[in-house]
Amino acid sequence: MNNSDIFVGLDIGTTSIKVIIAEFVKNQLNIIGYGNTGSVGLNRGVIVDIDQVVASIKDAVKQAEQRANIDISDVTVGIPANMLQIEQCRGMIAVSEEDGSAKEITEDDVRKVTQAALVQSLPPERSVIDVVPDEFTVDGFDGIKDPRGMVGVRMEMQGVMYTGPKTILHNTKKCVERAGLTVSDIVVAPIALSQVALNDGEQDFGAIVVDLGGGKTTAAVVHDHKLKYTYLDQEGGDYVTRDISVVLNTSIENAEMLKRNYGYAMSSLASEEESFPVQVVGRQESEKVTEQYLSEIIEARLRQIFEKLATALEQINAFQLPGGVVLTGGMAALPGIAELAEEIFQVQVRVYIPQEINLRIPSFTQVIGLVEYATKQSEIDLIVKQTLGSAKAKRQNLDNQQKGNSRPEQKPVKKPKKNNHADEPKKNQTSGEENGFGYKFKHMFDNFFD
Ligand SMILES: Nc1ncnc2c1ncn2[C@@H]1O[C@H](COP(=O)(O)OP(=O)(O)OP(=O)(O)O)[C@@H](O)[C@H]1O
Ligand SMILES: [Mg+2]
Repeated sequence: MNNSDIFVGLDIGTTSIKVIIAEFVKNQLNIIGYGNTGSVGLNRGVIVDIDQVVASIKDAVKQAEQRANIDISDVTVGIPANMLQIEQCRGMIAVSEEDGSAKEITEDDVRKVTQAALVQSLPPERSVIDVVPDEFTVDGFDGIKDPRGMVGVRMEMQGVMYTGPKTILHNTKKCVERAGLTVSDIVVAPIALSQVALNDGEQDFGAIVVDLGGGKTTAAVVHDHKLKYTYLDQEGGDYVTRDISVVLNTSIENAEMLKRNYGYAMSSLASEEESFPVQVVGRQESEKVTEQYLSEIIEARLRQIFEKLATALEQINAFQLPGGVVLTGGMAALPGIAELAEEIFQVQVRVYIPQEINLRIPSFTQVIGLVEYATKQSEIDLIVKQTLGSAKAKRQNLDNQQKGNSRPEQKPVKKPKKNNHADEPKKNQTSGEENGFGYKFKHMFDNFFD
């Protein structure tokens, strides 16, 4: 099988490592293999022991390879939002011939303008994870998505730059490479997650997606199809498990099992009568605990997490976005989670669960997002990424496609993005809906970075 048809997502989570192998045929993504192994060597989403993480990645990859019956090499990997910063960036270059006349813009010019946009003084401990081009301007004509082939003397690029701690980026790459794989693309995790958990309207008009992971909880605000803000609370489902273990005096393994089998996120939804036996450390006889009591323990921690999220999100008026809140990630499987979130956030809340066969649990949303994201990258996105030094392997595929070496259907499709059209009304233009409800939300975060 031609490897350019294959996309692999790798989600290095605190609780588990997930791998998905997908085949991209006739514009459709078919998942042909998956792996999921418990992870060791991470703390709150951050790699703290490279050797342990490498071993877990190898296990998960092996599982997925066996299911798909192929060997993989290139993977798209997510970078968690720990200490993520989102900034606008802008670069400008002259593209004219030596005599000053207008010249046709090439791929090389796109690389140069990206480099110009990246010339910013970053502290030594931070590095650029990703740059997503928003638009190009050629001789004053803005809203251009792909300037290649156009003629001009001056080109600007405007985009969004995501930076994070150098150590997170380095350790992630190191683990992938030490596991015998090649990083084909590096993605800011909530960008990939939101593209599957939120529908097109929510991504356009704005919504909040909350990833309830094991080691951390990440809220991401998406508006105009862009990630505008993230808030990360370094508490997650594993804290809930630990609380259960401490309060009920039972092992972590038991606590995890009880949470999954009997727990509710909202204790008022749990039964006062239904009880189950709990093995207590140091005692022969098990103790009876009601579902409601267990759920009170769960709710207390979740309330604390949601309240912190609410405070941060209120500060940027994110609850005014019409899409409300979408919950996903492992803990979103808990019954009553939407009800609890709705009570605290006071907006509509829904839970996103992937619909792919064998992957119908919210723990898989992130890794599905990574693989889908990889297929949606436009050529311009890849050229920009190549300038950053990532997207190497897929870039080679792109080169082959451009040389005509691949069949047309092998080329990843770009889903039409609403903001992808140069003929859309510009921010400073007026349209019929300017004073309407839709306009208000569509433009709510326009000046967010100012
Ligand atoms: N059915 C379930 N009911 C309740 N909790 C669950 C269920 N399934 C998984 N969880 C919890 O979800 C958490 C793991 O979620 P997930 O796989 O999204 O985390 P992760 O990606 O490994 O970690 P992180 O994103 O924080 O680095 C664990 O705390 C686990 O107990
Ligand atoms: Mg996760």
